Amino acid sequence: MAETPDGAQERPVLALDRIVKEFPGVRALDGVELELHPGEVTALIGENGAGKSTVVKILTGIYQPDGGQILIDGQPTAFPTAQAAADAGVTAIHQETVLFDELSVAENIFIGHAPRTRFGMIDRAGMKRRAGEILASIGAEIDPGVRLRDLGIASRHLVAIARALSIDARVVIMDEPTAALSQKEIEELYELVDTLKAQGKAILFISHKFDEIFRIADRYTVFRDGQFVGAGLMRDTDEGALVQMMVGRSVDQIFPKRESLLGVELLKVVGYSHPTEFEDINFTLRRGEILGFYGLVGAGRSEFMQSLIGITKPSKGVVRLEDRIKIIRSPADAIDAGIVYVPEDRGRQGAILDLPIFQNVTLPSLGQTSKHGFTQLAEEFALARKYTQRLDLRAASLDTHVGSLSGGNQQKVVIAKWLATRPKVIILDEPTKGIDIGSKAAVHDFMSELAAEGLSVIMVSSEIPEIMGMADRVIVMREGRIAAELEGDALTPETLVRHAAGIGLKEDAA
Ligand SMILES: Nc1ncnc2c1ncn2[C@@H]1O[C@H](COP(=O)(O)OP(=O)(O)OP(=O)(O)O)[C@@H](O)[C@H]1O
Ligand SMILES: [Mg+2]
Repeated sequence: MAETPDGAQERPVLALDRIVKEFPGVRALDGVELELHPGEVTALIGENGAGKSTVVKILTGIYQPDGGQILIDGQPTAFPTAQAAADAGVTAIHQETVLFDELSVAENIFIGHAPRTRFGMIDRAGMKRRAGEILASIGAEIDPGVRLRDLGIASRHLVAIARALSIDARVVIMDEPTAALSQKEIEELYELVDTLKAQGKAILFISHKFDEIFRIADRYTVFRDGQFVGAGLMRDTDEGALVQMMVGRSVDQIFPKRESLLGVELLKVVGYSHPTEFEDINFTLRRGEILGFYGLVGAGRSEFMQSLIGITKPSKGVVRLEDRIKIIRSPADAIDAGIVYVPEDRGRQGAILDLPIFQNVTLPSLGQTSKHGFTQLAEEFALARKYTQRLDLRAASLDTHVGSLSGGNQQKVVIAKWLATRPKVIILDEPTKGIDIGSKAAVHDFMSELAAEGLSVIMVSSEIPEIMGMADRVIVMREGRIAAELEGDALTPETLVRHAAGIGLKEDAA
């Protein structure tokens, strides 16, 4: 039994005792321990593939453990189904909760478990009242009677959360909940976590972002390669100690930008405009350069990048590559020209989950490995091995289906696939989101190495240390326009933020 932050001895609501989970060829969990306490946030920390999401699936009745026990209030129990976990008061807030546009807010919250009257009919009045109470408890001012389709994105997110809470949870699980949220939504989520804590719920919070772990967690538990490494109170530890536990070594060189000699101008974008998303974008990119694009979420960076590969159509503007005008009407045109884009949302736009790793990696570059129309399997493997090793991909073998990889390792497959096409220009949108701190170093190291070989990189990133550490030059976008181009001494965390937000610039100049 552990000490609480204020020193008392308290029994965990939920505990895992020596849990084992095996998949063919992988021991995903090898006797792990975890304790969740009422009114506290426990951060679960570990590298990509450490076993975090597998624990979530065991706690929500999706997977059955092969050994060990789940204890609720100290009593051994089992969650043979998702319903059993919900009945025990364990719920997970998923990003991709399915909601229905044509149903009301209250119906969305209670679909599948609506309160019923004595006669077995759905108790509509009771449902609406209860929905209102749950929404109010998380500070959401949403009328439970309105149709979902009339709500904006932020309100929909709150409805999804209210749905998770409608089962009267004692344990709330969040697996990388802020990965797809804007800064404002992230702040709202932190407030919600504080509210849930105050209601006495035990929260399990999974994240790769140390700043947020330190912001909201009371305790931590660290896994490495499916094993329990340690647990404790956040106030007794620091980032260095946690990283050391996660990776088993210290990571000192996180952003290893090499000095590269910049080559000749490779890409020139002139006057790129779009009716609603961006306007008058002009810049050049040299061979071997890493050009950063910084901005707040919604600044138009991803929309602009998508126009460079023919997904969105610009209304005006020209792209010159190696001093020739390129007309890019589709992603296929872009690949032919040597421009590839690795999207931020790699889950949906990236990998084919039913195919093995090696085929995912080699799919867009089959030309390189096929002779006389026949694909050379050995060469395909060699190509896939080269890129996945450099990105520190952790998988049993290259035959493993991508669907069975951890989230972070799936992302590495998508990055490898585009790098393997040997493009001239690669656009990486938030390249290390969802990637653990050790692998991040591997991804950055590889980026620098490729730039040194002459590849030009456009890196869209919202992480200041990443931008500062990796980019030779940075373009800041605000509201669809270029707000500043920064390099050398002018490139500081402060100038980045000021230009991105458009604050305090005139005073500085005066
Ligand atoms: N359905 C499955 N079939 C086979 N192997 C699996 C399956 N689900 C998970 N694994 C394996 O179990 C291990 C743990 O994966 P898990 O998804 O729990 O990692 P994670 O800690 O959540 O990582 P990330 O930070 O990348 O999301 C990995 O080696 C993964 O490949
Ligand atoms: Mg995961």
